[in-house]
Amino acid sequence: DWTPESFVDSTVRELKEKVGDDKVILGLSGGVDSSVAAVLLHKAIGENLHCIFVDNGLLRKDEFSSVLESYKGMGLNVKGVNAAEEFYKELEGVSEPEAKRKAIGKVFVDVFERESKLVENAKWLGQGTIYPDVIESVSVKGPSATIKSHHNVGGLPDYMKLQVVEPLNTLFKDEVRAVGHTLGIDDAILKRHPFPGPGLGIRILGDVTAEKVAILQEVDHIFIQGLKDHGLYNDVWQAGAIFLPVQSVGVMGDERTYENVVALRAVGSLDGMTADWIHLPYEFLAEISNNIINRVKGVNRVVYDISSKPPATIEWE
Ligand code: XMP
Repeated sequence: DWTPESFVDSTVRELKEKVGDDKVILGLSGGVDSSVAAVLLHKAIGENLHCIFVDNGLLRKDEFSSVLESYKGMGLNVKGVNAAEEFYKELEGVSEPEAKRKAIGKVFVDVFERESKLVENAKWLGQGTIYPDVIESVSVKGPSATIKSHHNVGGLPDYMKLQVVEPLNTLFKDEVRAVGHTLGIDDAILKRHPFPGPGLGIRILGDVTAEKVAILQEVDHIFIQGLKDHGLYNDVWQAGAIFLPVQSVGVMGDERTYENVVALRAVGSLDGMTADWIHLPYEFLAEISNNIINRVKGVNRVVYDISSKPPATIEWE
């Protein structure tokens, strides 16, 4: 019978046999899959696993430092690479959604490739690919794959000639979580909402600037922390905030303001293919809206997205 314990035992044994004394490179994203893959590989080959965690400047507030710390706490051999400026530079003046994804994907590959070369004699590329990813790439692509190009960790140029090792490629998401739990990985990582590879880059409609990222990080943090404080976080499949490319008139004290609008989105889903907007309590939405407008400079209006997928997608871009 399949149990997470037996999976861990047999996989660690197989990985030792397969990889031997070779070095493996793995890109961590902060998400469930890459984290579980890393801890499994680390259990099998220890310091020969070289993890790379790239800050693309489009992560949630404080996410890079806090996730990096928790990876180090798990004993992973991980290098954090702050590449925010490189990403912002490539994104300058780019506002079309697919062009943004391409720009972000390109810089990621550049940075990852550069960092990988610093690991001498690496033979393998570790990846957190799970079973549904395998299915999606061999069968007719699902709507989310064809409507939006998904850039995840990986996609290295051929000449690097690394062999790929994917210890999770037979598992479904709930099995990955169970394995992660058995490996002692924190719930803060295992129960984290899905977050797109291009991050806040596709939640800032129009062109992306460091200033907009900073505003959206604050807004998103108030929303997500609010969900956690009210015990709503685990009832929601995915949530986040979107920076809209419009300004609207408001009034603050005696002053007329003309500032930014943000949208909040929270959905329930099983696999992201379809999704329903969540009926968050009005009182909760009122509190979050007040906190955002009072605390985040540059935002004077908050709206809540009440669209389901289909026909709307989860992300706005
Ligand atoms: P949509 O917006 O297509 O999103 O309904 C479905 C799920 O996929 C995530 N998503 C992405 N993930 N790279 C990713 O790694 C992407 O470019 C991307 N676009 C959307 C989205 O957050 C949701 O969980």
